[in-house]
Amino acid sequence: MNKEEQYKELLPQLEAIVADEGDEIANMANVAAMLHTTFGFWWTGFYRVVNCQPSASSNQKTNAELVLGPFQGPVACTRIPYSKGVCGTAWERGETVIVPDVHKFKGHIACSSASNSEIVVPVFKGGEVTAVLDIDSKDFGTFDEEDKYWLEKIVKQCFAQ
Ligand code: SME
Repeated sequence: MNKEEQYKELLPQLEAIVADEGDEIANMANVAAMLHTTFGFWWTGFYRVVNCQPSASSNQKTNAELVLGPFQGPVACTRIPYSKGVCGTAWERGETVIVPDVHKFKGHIACSSASNSEIVVPVFKGGEVTAVLDIDSKDFGTFDEEDKYWLEKIVKQCFAQ
């Protein structure tokens, strides 16, 4: 099966799994597990945007950070500031970031030295980024526009409201 066929088969399975469950963290756990086991990625998981210093007058984005959520793979860093690393960059830009060689990405946060390429897909709710899906591969250049297309579709179908 090629990548497109795998994603096509996976999408309805993911939709079915999240359909009957209202808890987002439980759903993130299963989406991460299914993506990870289907494709054999090195690390697959979510970081959630969490307010760390709530203040009525402050800009929400500068007072929030990405906090590790459900994932599959080796131990990872727990907190990533806005605009930092690939994850914080995808959050800041509000768009998917594909990194064919993480060693060439300025500011890349290396949770594992075995990771060589990465894709980070923002999860939107009401126009705001509320989480990111982060996937790491041990191979270079694993992710392309096809992954972007399908992973964006998956997070939209599973998590957007
Ligand atoms: N490499 C990411 C950090 C998270 S780990 O890959 C799980 C980044 O640069 O944001």
